[in-house]
Amino acid sequence: MELPDMVQRYGSGRLGLCDIRAMERGFAKGRLLIKDIGHLVGFGPKPLGRLCGGDMRKLPVLENAWMAIEDGRVLDGGSMVDFPGIVDWNGLEVVEADGRVVLPSWVDSHTHLVHAASREGEFVDRIRGLSYQEIATRGGGILNSSRALREMSEDELYDRSLERFERIIRMGTCAIEIKSGYGLDMDSEMKMLRVARRLGALDLIPVKTTFLGCHAVPEGWSDAMAYTRHMAEVVLPVVAEEGLADFVDIFCEEGYFGLEETRLLLSEAALRGLPAKVHVNQFTASGGVALCSELDALSVDHLEVLEAEDVAELASSETIPVALPLCSLFLDLPYTPGRTLVDAGCALAIATDFNPGSAPSGNMHLAASLGCLRMGLEPIEALAAATVNGAAALGLQDAVGGLAIGQEASLIMTRPLRSVEEALYAFGDPLSERILLRGHWVS
Ligand code: NIG
Ligand code: FE
Repeated sequence: MELPDMVQRYGSGRLGLCDIRAMERGFAKGRLLIKDIGHLVGFGPKPLGRLCGGDMRKLPVLENAWMAIEDGRVLDGGSMVDFPGIVDWNGLEVVEADGRVVLPSWVDSHTHLVHAASREGEFVDRIRGLSYQEIATRGGGILNSSRALREMSEDELYDRSLERFERIIRMGTCAIEIKSGYGLDMDSEMKMLRVARRLGALDLIPVKTTFLGCHAVPEGWSDAMAYTRHMAEVVLPVVAEEGLADFVDIFCEEGYFGLEETRLLLSEAALRGLPAKVHVNQFTASGGVALCSELDALSVDHLEVLEAEDVAELASSETIPVALPLCSLFLDLPYTPGRTLVDAGCALAIATDFNPGSAPSGNMHLAASLGCLRMGLEPIEALAAATVNGAAALGLQDAVGGLAIGQEASLIMTRPLRSVEEALYAFGDPLSERILLRGHWVS
């Protein structure tokens, strides 16, 4: 009996099924041809960069198509009508898509995937009538996660995060951003960022990391400005020096951090070459959108509460608005006015916000469907937001987000669907039949 093997796979029983070790790393060697694709989304001669406003509807969809992949990247493609035929069969894997839809894999540009533990107790408290803010005031919320994280060893934190990481990859995510923000002191913030870097070093998908030391003011600090100064002037330089972060973030919100703290942190980060991706306007319109745009933030995320001047500001700015509809669903908040932002000409992105307090899910498919159901986006626009524009919100637009020639061959081959629209219309149902990650089929 193969007991040791079973023990290895199902192991402690604590982490559940985690066989990420079986996934192949890096870019696959070899050639793959996918034929008879019903609808091929995101193929083209070169990456799309970002899609603004009305251009989001121009995410390319090729009917009855083929696509060739070499060494884990898109090599070529086109219509089956003009299919040139196979010249060299040597080592070629041919996959018959039989009319299935091929989508570029999701790009999740905003997550807190590294955290110690779930908070389903607070979930029950909210069902019983407490608000997210009331729970936070009673010592729950971010500070609850912070206590658990500080106590946890780095290896344990890694194991728990690895299980979530595997789960999001199996759901079709091919690039991710991961924030710190539950450490709230030098050692624990660095521990989180090191764990995120270790996930990136697995070389399965691109991982970008964000230093969110200013997520909440921890116990022992009464003053948000004094704490921000410490984070900006003491912790940030070490984080930057050790190459642990690609971006910086701050929770710009009433009761958390204000405009002055945001300006200080973003200015210090800019000096060290770290662009900003900022939590702003989740509960109140704070004036943070204009400030972040003025300071050239890469993205402003949340935006559940948005005023007309914020929309106008974003329409004339390079800063990308990122909607987090799973957070709106989970906390029963207003949804980011996606339709309004797209009509104003913005390059709207959609991400999950995967975290234990306000969005305990990394399901990009559901997030994109909510873009249609609750934010007024057409399916093709929601797909653009969850792929191309998500990649732009991470500075990864050349590598991922579409299936243009030269981009990573990370894709979702759906179950049989009649159209691209059906992919988001069937909102809670399993979508993918097979997932390709940099040319490897994920089993
Ligand atoms: O993006 N808003 C701030 N931070 C997270 C929630 C953090 C938590 O509750 O643990 C968010 O919603
Ligand atoms: Fe968040």
